[in-house]
Amino acid sequence: MTNERYPILAPSLLAFDHADLGAAANQVESDGREWLHVDVMDGHFVPNVTFGPQTVADLRSKCDLFLDVHLMVTNPASLVESFAKAGADLISAHVEIGETIGFTLEAIRKLDCQVGIAINPDTPAEEIRPYLGAVDLVLVMTVVPGFGGQAFRDDMVEKINVVHRWRDIGRHDFRVEVDGGVNPDTGQLCQEAGADVFVAGTAYRKLDVNGRAAFARGLRSP
Ligand code: DX5
Ligand code: ZN
Repeated sequence: MTNERYPILAPSLLAFDHADLGAAANQVESDGREWLHVDVMDGHFVPNVTFGPQTVADLRSKCDLFLDVHLMVTNPASLVESFAKAGADLISAHVEIGETIGFTLEAIRKLDCQVGIAINPDTPAEEIRPYLGAVDLVLVMTVVPGFGGQAFRDDMVEKINVVHRWRDIGRHDFRVEVDGGVNPDTGQLCQEAGADVFVAGTAYRKLDVNGRAAFARGLRSP
């Protein structure tokens, strides 16, 4: 089976001016993008701190983008309701939080949000396999999370392909998202391996309006 999902380029808010997030959302929307990736970091699960539910609520009032909220936090279950009420469309939690992941995914579903499970580069793909029937998206980290601007991990291409094959074998219909060091070249590698959502922070921000359009066009439709 081939990947029949049209590609989505999801700019990452992390790479924009944090004192002017409304302008970031407006630019992403006027570029013609549909998704905005929002990295939430708690200073514990990862050594950085970023956005909270209020950020999502304010973005929600300023744009119609699909808000793709990536929770890099130790206790996401305590926050999912706030993010859902703020207007998140999809919430991803990390499998590395441990045994509460199943409960957390169920909690996101009950809040009428789409459900994502994220996996770090050094965590074996097998750890997410029990949850594949319960999610709308698998987020394969292609850098160790925490900071933008890191180099893409080439060894993640095989992991993307494993998840893609499991999707076909299990007849699941989740999307496969990649996040970290994604640029027009690494994005294409990920697409060939089966990814269909491409988070890009630093690479997207560096491009001018024509370059951003070319980045999106370079991700082939099925
Ligand atoms: C990394 C974040 C990413 C980040 C990607 O911890 O999860 O979403 O914004 O940034 P770039 O594209 O710069 O690697
Ligand atoms: Zn992210």
